Amino acid sequence: MYIPKIIIVKNEVEVGKIVSAEIINLINNNPKCVLGFATGSSPLTTYVALVEDYKKNQTDWNQVTTFNLDEYLDLTIDNHNSYAWFMHNNLFNHINVNVKQIHIPQSIGDVNTAAEKYETMIDNAGGIDLQILGIGVNGHIGFNEPPTDKNTLTHIVDLTPSTINRNARFFTKNDLQPTKAITMGIASILKAKKIILIAIGETKSEIMKKFLTTTKPWPDLPVSWLLEHNNVTVVMDMHAAEAWLTREDNT
Ligand code: GLP
Repeated sequence: MYIPKIIIVKNEVEVGKIVSAEIINLINNNPKCVLGFATGSSPLTTYVALVEDYKKNQTDWNQVTTFNLDEYLDLTIDNHNSYAWFMHNNLFNHINVNVKQIHIPQSIGDVNTAAEKYETMIDNAGGIDLQILGIGVNGHIGFNEPPTDKNTLTHIVDLTPSTINRNARFFTKNDLQPTKAITMGIASILKAKKIILIAIGETKSEIMKKFLTTTKPWPDLPVSWLLEHNNVTVVMDMHAAEAWLTREDNT
């Protein structure tokens, strides 16, 4: 088991500055790097900072390859609830990344075969150099819902009621909210050379405490598998860190 490096900053804008600086540094040192991206609200300030950097410094994304963690089943890229739409609108449309080098799990058609191929594509690209993750309030990473074993590769999942309810805020009443998704597995995530987990806001406070006080990885807390990776950095704002910082045994 490894202990993650923990960085606590005052707010989500500072989280975005720290994480974007890591990404920019990696691109500058290795223009052909492979980045793993996440969606949801957690990485948003990072993407804002990356777009600002591109406008100011023209960091060159042309040779970068990207793989996204997950996607809802049955939503096409033109659906504003799809993660493909999210990534293009929040990041890819604003930088000079080569669209041929963007990968988002296929969510339509033969998704089981697509899941297998996704894993091969990651391996053929040389593996992910830096994987960005958010965390669900139930401890999921990507869409690896509890319980999830350590050996899972990219696969199709049934979303839990907790995740469906929590993500309902992004859907209007006329939108179809999927109950299934395709996600990189725990083993796919652990293959990344470096991982940054972002947690923002008080809704993440209890789960972050649970994760950071766990002594042994277990399937009911999917994020805990990260303790088996030797290069994980957790970047949190003060609100997400609150319960962990004020826990009783924190001496
Ligand atoms: C979603 C995504 C995850 C994300 C998590 C947290 O369901 N599948 O990749 O990390 O839940 O989302 P948010 O950052 O909006 O809290």
